[in-house]
Amino acid sequence: MSDIKSGGKIMLVGIGPGSHDHMTHRARAAIAEADVVVGYVTYIKLVADLLEGKEVMRKGMTEELDRAVHALEFARAGKKVALISSGDAGVYGMAGPTYEVLFQAGWTPESDVAVEVVPGASAINACAALVGAPLTHDFCSISLSDLLTPWPVIARRLDAAAAADFVVALYNPKSGRRTQQIVQAQQLFLRHRSPETPVAVVKSAYRRRERIEFTTLASMSECDIGMLTTVLIGNSNTFVRHGLMVTPRGYANKYELHGDGSTREGEKPGRSLSTGLIGWTENLRLDHADGVSVAALALRHKLPTDYIEMVLNAPVEDAAAQEAVAIEEPEA
Ligand SMILES: C[S@@+](CC[C@H](N)C(=O)[O-])C[C@H]1O[C@@H](n2cnc3c(N)ncnc32)[C@H](O)[C@@H]1O
Repeated sequence: MSDIKSGGKIMLVGIGPGSHDHMTHRARAAIAEADVVVGYVTYIKLVADLLEGKEVMRKGMTEELDRAVHALEFARAGKKVALISSGDAGVYGMAGPTYEVLFQAGWTPESDVAVEVVPGASAINACAALVGAPLTHDFCSISLSDLLTPWPVIARRLDAAAAADFVVALYNPKSGRRTQQIVQAQQLFLRHRSPETPVAVVKSAYRRRERIEFTTLASMSECDIGMLTTVLIGNSNTFVRHGLMVTPRGYANKYELHGDGSTREGEKPGRSLSTGLIGWTENLRLDHADGVSVAALALRHKLPTDYIEMVLNAPVEDAAAQEAVAIEEPEA
């Protein structure tokens, strides 16, 4: 591969969930700048009014590597190519397959073709915004598509995420042929979470056939779920009120919401929780000094014994100095 830039460029453009209002300025500019636009036929339709005068290559759903190979060919011929993905190109999108194709072709960031990833609002952001604020605490996403990932890998991730009390977004939950994955996901979650756990099923967010359904973990597999649906499963603290799904920022309800805004007993404003790392470590040491075994502490806190041992054996830090650092960290 030549070290001289061909002038060609691949722009991996996330176009957001579907409406122009939710496309970034840079995504729109990247498409405007492009000589060629390559994408899955449905995504091409979503940006149809931005394509005048451009060479357009429409591809089928399974032709991901093919799209990347064509993009590279166009770029090597000196063209600017917008390779479009819905949502964000780096979230179950074209960015990964494209870099794989580029590396296989011997491309490096210094060689002939420039590459830019243009971020977009992923389905998880779009669907969360439509249902309220379900992602205000730790969350993860899991794709139920077993076309490229073995089912046991997906099942292990579902089980681990459910056990760890993450809010979870399920991408690719169901298709014409893949109908049982969502049922299995539900069964795995029910092993760890209440059947009443709030679930939001969002179809075609910010598109013509947008549909939002609130349900529970016990009933989620009976909902109308398809290829363009994202399923948001709440954590043990998530609630639905006035048609909005909300996950509180923390677990401890440190501040009183009513009255004078004072903190709960044992807590101090602006300080880490009494059960935060510093307070928890201090109490762990006290319990151990009182004769509670490492194994019993591990069981009590649902943590591995070797981790408990590591914490107990670590040098004692100056708690006041750690708090002074913690107090400077922003909360939101
Ligand atoms: C191959 S993934 C593409 C994800 C995309 N790159 C993103 O960042 O949103 C396709 C899955 O994304 C989700 N999805 C994409 N657009 C959506 C929308 N407008 N509404 C709801 N879910 C959507 C669905 O779960 C769908 O099965």
